[in-house]
Amino acid sequence: MPDKQRAPRNRTLMLTQGESEAYKSGLVYADEKILTVKKINNKTICGDLFKILDNLPKNFADLLIIDPPYNLNKNFDGFKFLQTEDNNYMEYLESWFPRVMECLSPSGSVYLCGDWKCSACLYLIMKKYAKIRNRIIWQREKGRGAKANWKNSCEDIWFGTKSDDYYFDVESIKQKRKVIAPYKENGKPKDWEETENGNFRLTYPSNFWDDISIPYWSMPENTDHPTQKPEKLIAKLILASCPESGIVFDPFLGSGTTSVVAKKLGRNYCGVEMSEEYCCLAEKRLHLADFDKTIQGYSNGVFWERNTANLQMAENKKYKYETENQDLLFR
Ligand SMILES: C[S@@+](CC[C@H](N)C(=O)[O-])C[C@H]1O[C@@H](n2cnc3c(N)ncnc32)[C@H](O)[C@@H]1O
Repeated sequence: MPDKQRAPRNRTLMLTQGESEAYKSGLVYADEKILTVKKINNKTICGDLFKILDNLPKNFADLLIIDPPYNLNKNFDGFKFLQTEDNNYMEYLESWFPRVMECLSPSGSVYLCGDWKCSACLYLIMKKYAKIRNRIIWQREKGRGAKANWKNSCEDIWFGTKSDDYYFDVESIKQKRKVIAPYKENGKPKDWEETENGNFRLTYPSNFWDDISIPYWSMPENTDHPTQKPEKLIAKLILASCPESGIVFDPFLGSGTTSVVAKKLGRNYCGVEMSEEYCCLAEKRLHLADFDKTIQGYSNGVFWERNTANLQMAENKKYKYETENQDLLFR
């Protein structure tokens, strides 16, 4: 990875040989037979999920975020997942999903990611082992063009819970959107605010997300992992469905996005990943999160539309000024 030619402004996170060695010492290895909550909390478990499924504690997670290999040919650091018939993919899901669900607390929630090709199978497995609450569709900004088909530019996330008693904090996932048709009542903005940076409305989020950018080379969260999820997307799931100090478990951790975002948002985390390289990348991101807790597209407690960095910066300055001078402003 480090020997690739990169553009000067490329911010892709990489590991030096020395860093890989150092981060290995913080990993929990899958050959450990007894995995207590204490042992795995805020840790990255390195190894094959199938080897440790029986050793994981039951009911420990408040939230499962599951981003498994989709039913596609994909090379994950040497592990080649091969596209297969639906019935085989269904069997694959059956071999781990119910066992991962045992890790979820009775009041916990689960999110399962996929694309249109595997989504029908994901629905069936969720229906069998969880109470399905919704399907989120998120728009991938990028997508490969196709000559004889529609360009694929969205993905699914199935949302389920273990029971009817579950946590959901809708106030924490509100979106700040520009107002297109500013409607006034008695000369005053109705449900929107007028600011020097434009007119905005705070809205409740729907199950169609068009405000996500997938990580690309100029973003500080970007790594060389082939299917890295955006931090902003994972932040919405965690804020909505994991209470503060709860535990988020990701059995297919990849480059560590779930754990990193959980840490940035004050939640506990645990993830399993078979590639030692990706585990170390996750550890590096977790280390960097000690110094920088920002999540692109999320600031001052709200989610912003795409391409609003300038507006966010202006609002941040205002917010910072108001917070720092609160005493003066209210005197
Ligand atoms: C779709 S990716 C997850 C990407 C992740 N959400 C991120 O943001 O980086 C799936 C990951 O699961 C890992 N994986 C696949 N099968 C596994 C297994 N049996 N045990 C542990 N990890 C596995 C792959 O190496 C890959 O990194």
